Amino acid sequence: MVSCGLIIPKLFQLSLLLFSAPYINGKTLEKCLTGNTYPSERPPVVLIPGDLGNQLEAKLDKPSVVHYICYKKTEVYFTLWLNLELLVPVAIDCWIDNIRLIYNRTTRLTEAPPGVDVRVPGFGQTFSLEYLDPSKQGVGMYFFTIVQALVDWGYTRDDDVRGAPYDWRKAPNENKAYFLNLQKMIEEMAEKAGRPVVLMAHSMGNLYTLYFLNHQPQAWKDRYIKAFLSLGAPWAGVAKTLKVVASGDNNRIPVISPLKMRSQQRSAVSTTWLLPYEHSWPADKVLVQTPTTNYTVKDYQRFFKDINFEDGWEMRQDTEPLITELKAPGVTIHCLYGSGVETAESFVYSSFPDADPNTITGDGDGTVNLLSAAQCKRWIGRQTQPVHMYELEGNEHINMLINYTTVDYIKKVLLGV
Ligand SMILES: *[C@@H]1O[C@H](CO)[C@@H](O)[C@H](O)[C@H]1NC(C)=O
Ligand SMILES: *[C@@H]1O[C@H](CO)[C@@H](O)[C@H](O)[C@H]1NC(C)=O
Ligand SMILES: *[C@@H]1O[C@H](CO)[C@@H](O)[C@H](O)[C@H]1NC(C)=O
Repeated sequence: MVSCGLIIPKLFQLSLLLFSAPYINGKTLEKCLTGNTYPSERPPVVLIPGDLGNQLEAKLDKPSVVHYICYKKTEVYFTLWLNLELLVPVAIDCWIDNIRLIYNRTTRLTEAPPGVDVRVPGFGQTFSLEYLDPSKQGVGMYFFTIVQALVDWGYTRDDDVRGAPYDWRKAPNENKAYFLNLQKMIEEMAEKAGRPVVLMAHSMGNLYTLYFLNHQPQAWKDRYIKAFLSLGAPWAGVAKTLKVVASGDNNRIPVISPLKMRSQQRSAVSTTWLLPYEHSWPADKVLVQTPTTNYTVKDYQRFFKDINFEDGWEMRQDTEPLITELKAPGVTIHCLYGSGVETAESFVYSSFPDADPNTITGDGDGTVNLLSAAQCKRWIGRQTQPVHMYELEGNEHINMLINYTTVDYIKKVLLGV
């Protein structure tokens, strides 16, 4: 199907860390030459990306490095995420030593390793979440299709459609300044346009958005938020994270050992934040089975002890309360989520935790379990604003962002056409 402003690129999938990122074959957008005019009363849009869903930059002045090929000092900030050239053998050791976080049990906060300064580029702009890898045109495409569609409907990048990237290695408890900046940006956009804003989030970005909305007074939400467009939300966590923290995940980058990735993946607090939640998973559901033990949502303390990652249990306790009540957002919400794609549901280990397990799959979008995505329904009747559910059969977690049905739905919400 050819549609104005929407490309359906030939995808090849390279799955990185927790979530997979789509890669396109350097295709450029077909010029759209229609004379369509769209209503000028369109609401401003803020995009909130998911885990791994925006660029990160780093600058180094390190006391020591893990390998002689690693840079010890750089004059300027360089792209730490995503730069595929850093994710190859040996170079990846340098990368891990730069992107990892160090947890401090006393302050219950994470720090960058000595001499590593990480920053999030492009707050208020869209580039850092349209494409993840700035060095390669057409590689690491993320929000591009949706932003380009909005532009074709009359929006202007970095003006009435803006991005809210953040340090996705951390959970909201360590991103306080981000939420203040987000609030300020929403207010500015709403005041400039003379109408309230639509928040559009993908994946973990939805949990960030819910946390944000839960901390705003109702009067503020009534004044500034028109709707929350939620795409592929893991409201109750994701079963796959158990494998990620236990044995690592090199998904489809065969040259990189999962155990190597594990050290980085464990250090990101957002990974433990996304472990399945007791409020939705059945208490007797075995999520991880080993020759000696079965673990359910009730056994995390033991699980972290047995995988020799006790800081993980501390991180979970720090982050579990953030949105565990799943308090209604208090704004009109549209929940779009994929189903019908095989999704990791539990893991059976013959050797725990250092060997890859057998994965048992269930329903979902390939990353988020359907059980988790569908929790949106609990808000029906629990808030005065409407709750719309839209299951997208056959849609994979990232590919749903380039699906015509999704883009068409977004258009209806934004322009009412
Ligand atoms: C943790 O933070 C405390 C308080 O700032 C500090 O005194 C301590 O040295 C830190 N611990 C580590 C292991 O860095
Ligand atoms: C773990 O659960 C499975 C079924 O889910 C059961 O067959 C097995 O005996 C249990 N193992 C232990 C150690 O309890
Ligand atoms: C887009 O989503 C719709 C609705 O779930 C689905 O029927 C269709 O197959 C999807 N298209 C593609 C190209 O994935």
